[in-house]
Amino acid sequence: MGGIFAALSLRREDVAPLVVEGLKRLRFRGNDCAGIAVVGDDGLRILKERGDVEDVDRALGLSKLRGWVALGHTRFSTHGRPYSDNAHPHIDCRGEVAVAGDGAIANYEELRDELAMEGHRIVSRSDFEVVAHLIEDGLAKGETFLKAFAAAVERLRGFYVVAALHRSGTIAVYTSKLPVYLGIGDGLYTVASTHTALYGAAREYVEVLGGEIAVVSSSGIAILRPPNLLRVERGARRLELDPRLVDKGGYPHHMLREIYEVPYALLRTIATVQARFLEFAARLLNGARNIFIVADGTSLHAGFVASYYFTELAGVSPIVVSAAEFPLYYIEGVGPGTVVVAISQSGETGDVISSVYEAKLRGATILGITNYVGSKLAMFSNLYLPIGAGPELAVPATKTFTSTLALLYLLALNAGRLAGKLTPDEVRELSGRIERLSDELIRELPRIDREAREAARLLAECRSGYVISRGINYPIALEGALKLKEAAYMHAEGMEAGEFRHGPVVLVERGFFTVFILPVERRAAEATYPLIRDAHSKGATVVVIGPSEELAAHDLPGHKIGVPTADRHLAPIASSIPLQLLAYHLGVLRGLPIDGPRYLTKAVRQ
Ligand code: AGP
Repeated sequence: MGGIFAALSLRREDVAPLVVEGLKRLRFRGNDCAGIAVVGDDGLRILKERGDVEDVDRALGLSKLRGWVALGHTRFSTHGRPYSDNAHPHIDCRGEVAVAGDGAIANYEELRDELAMEGHRIVSRSDFEVVAHLIEDGLAKGETFLKAFAAAVERLRGFYVVAALHRSGTIAVYTSKLPVYLGIGDGLYTVASTHTALYGAAREYVEVLGGEIAVVSSSGIAILRPPNLLRVERGARRLELDPRLVDKGGYPHHMLREIYEVPYALLRTIATVQARFLEFAARLLNGARNIFIVADGTSLHAGFVASYYFTELAGVSPIVVSAAEFPLYYIEGVGPGTVVVAISQSGETGDVISSVYEAKLRGATILGITNYVGSKLAMFSNLYLPIGAGPELAVPATKTFTSTLALLYLLALNAGRLAGKLTPDEVRELSGRIERLSDELIRELPRIDREAREAARLLAECRSGYVISRGINYPIALEGALKLKEAAYMHAEGMEAGEFRHGPVVLVERGFFTVFILPVERRAAEATYPLIRDAHSKGATVVVIGPSEELAAHDLPGHKIGVPTADRHLAPIASSIPLQLLAYHLGVLRGLPIDGPRYLTKAVRQ
């Protein structure tokens, strides 16, 4: 993943300084490597290195490169660890074309093998390098740069944006789904991953939509639709931005932006995890003598949901345990044949790393699940699967949680297939449902956001409360209560609905809230409706989260937030979003430092 920023000066002025500034505004999309390719009097040149764009600029002088066309990239590593060869832009064997990308190419491993067999010199583990070599093949056959680029993207599967700069000074960009932005300024064209990055460089902009190719050259800009490359006419819009929001991609907080990225992060996860590694991981699970899922906080809640996935889809029963408890109370059960599934979005959580270390000493195999491929967890694991959600800057975890669920679900499906419980067709069909849910979430998010904001106003009147559910949604109640504490400093307790009448009910009265997440399981849902009515009749503020259809079919009291109807196993993803938004808006109402709550850090190392 990463941020792309490119520029072309019609007056033939040097554009590298402008590209470096653009990349700084895209840091929130990744900043573990940075690089620029420039076309000028010296031909096509590339400088790139591991590190934040500002550090790389200081070390290599990116902004001193001379040339009137440039393609820059700031990277979040998902394929290949952060180091110079894996940094973008990548170059083909003949040095004619530079390529930078955002997102992930799902069939990268196959393409890489094929190109290497043909004799291409592949120097990185980054998925986007293959695109440079595919374009090279087209150019070698005598195709124009544009035709070669269009033919190359035709070979790619996944969720991505790819930009290529030819030594002639033409830039081509393709996006599979997310919009890309073409900026128009004084004698200057720019291309950026977000319109906010165009701040200061463009007067107006044109959107390039999923499935389209944009071409930028000294003859102008054009949007084309493959395969026939028919021209798309689209008007430009004025670029009007609040400068205070530019570094957060147009949002007031990283947390809100990251919640809005949830559906896209799901697609990134699917495209990032390569079939070959899922297969290895599934084999590990199926061959294990015993399995522990070890994690803390939000990742532990993902582990609780995963225990349903593993048990129901793959027929293996893990023990899910806090990484703080594991070395003290569970280590005796660890030995050769044990698989420890260690989940940590940061890959740096101290308890997780100690657990992994102790389990390894006893001969266990470690399967790491992390968002950071350069992390300690990735290094200490026998095998790791990247979450691929993109960087998460707000301390309260949101998109990494839902993407971790998606990844663990894919893992369980594959383990189920290997165990003969699911056919390959069933696995394909069930995996495809993540994509469908993502599409529904993209459509529904603004409405869910409005309803969550209204619910936050109600909770603002309360002093404390419960988040209640059952079954596979019960871990989401725990997670919702954690979000309310972190982002809104609101005391909340995650509760299993069946326990409600065994004591907790005594606190329910006016000034107390009960947020119910409707359980997915039919009998459990029916047993929950009376509890909702009961809490309401006792004067509590009631919020009910559930599939819109179900909420409409039952006359339940309280404020309702509808979510898309999802499969039982994907329902926890859909239910998480209103809770994240509720906590966010409550934190805003209370004027709190949402992205960096007091006493907390993104990775708890000690
Ligand atoms: C999540 O919102 C919290 N900030 C926290 O509980 C976190 O999930 C926990 O510290 C584990 O972090 P990790 O996933 O990076 O290991």
